[in-house]
Amino acid sequence: MHRLSIDLGNRGYPILVGRGLLDDPAVLAAAVPARDVLVVTNVTVGPLYLDRLVRGLAGKRVASVALPDGEQYKTLAHLERLFDALVAARMNRDACVVALGGGVVGDMAGFAAACYQRGVDFVQVPTTLLAQVDSSVGGKTGVNHPGGKNLIGAFHQPRAVISDIGTLSTLPARELRAGLAEVIKYGLIADASFLGWIEAHVEALLALDGSALEHAVRRSCELKAEIVAEDEREHGRRALLNLGHTFGHAIETATGYGEWLHGEAVAAGMLMAADFSRRLGWLGATDVERVRRLLERTGLPTRAPAIGASRALELMAMDKKVQAGRVRLVLLPRLGEATVSGDYPAELLSAALVEHFGAAA
Ligand code: NAD
Ligand code: GLY
Repeated sequence: MHRLSIDLGNRGYPILVGRGLLDDPAVLAAAVPARDVLVVTNVTVGPLYLDRLVRGLAGKRVASVALPDGEQYKTLAHLERLFDALVAARMNRDACVVALGGGVVGDMAGFAAACYQRGVDFVQVPTTLLAQVDSSVGGKTGVNHPGGKNLIGAFHQPRAVISDIGTLSTLPARELRAGLAEVIKYGLIADASFLGWIEAHVEALLALDGSALEHAVRRSCELKAEIVAEDEREHGRRALLNLGHTFGHAIETATGYGEWLHGEAVAAGMLMAADFSRRLGWLGATDVERVRRLLERTGLPTRAPAIGASRALELMAMDKKVQAGRVRLVLLPRLGEATVSGDYPAELLSAALVEHFGAAA
């Protein structure tokens, strides 16, 4: 088992990465000291892993709730089910919410924990690659709004993250590829040698090779933990974690939540960010081709849907990085290094959006 930690003073916590952690009583007892526990899962993950987790929590008063499965249910309306379950089980301030599932379950359970009685503990037990490398770490929680992704939420750090690599064996291949998009993101924004490692291990990762997956999760979490420790509330460097997300969120919102997976939209968005960095004279054409090739080998989409440039820009303007009406983008001065900038010619962005999203929907 690898044990990383995220250094946030009294809100710091361990990130445990290994096999068989999901029902390890010693791991769970240390991570979940509370007596009263609400496990939040969904109708797909629950039948696979809930019993094991509950057995590992023996001796506690455990209630559980299974949400419907899908990004389209990451809404305020469905959040109410979690508050209803907490109230029905008469949970108090000393209760702990445990999120068992992917990023949708984690974001919703975390937001419920942030709000219930003005904040109770929560623990992340992520079961998708995307959640293990990204969404379970860093304390961003929330739900979508029809007008934009993740517009309603709170920062609420978990008290532990328990990533059991074994759970990835049941993950559909498409979801595995979507998680790899976020792994590639870390190489692109922060670690050129990790990018080279991913290029050398794509086939192993796609074949669910245990040691390759463990390395990918561990290195991604190290990079994320370092950035979040430096900038917990995203006043600066944390925004780099959103490479491809401004374009990607526009894709997710325009196509209806759930049609494009988050990681797929991020993949197409990262290629757009690389291409725009080339238009600004930063990356070379061979760099952009290198990104495209890696995404293609991973089986990720590299072409945006034809939602039209003006609709894309309208949705991008709802991005949380917008400042004084200016869409700020995460761009790549070189592979392995990122920056956030709103300082580019607007016509250049318009031309790029027409090329990627089409002139009209
Ligand atoms: P997801 O939660 O929808 O899970 C993907 C699918 O896999 C679902 O159908 C789920 O039921 C299924 N599943 C989960 N674990 C499984 C397993 N072990 N075996 C079989 N099936 C399993 O999607 P995701 O990609 O994990 O997360 C995407 C969400 O995360 C988006 O809402 C995105 O906005 C959010 N996100 C949040 C952050 C953050 O910092 N909070 C970061 C990145 C993404
Ligand atoms: N996924 C972006 C962040 O956690 O900041």
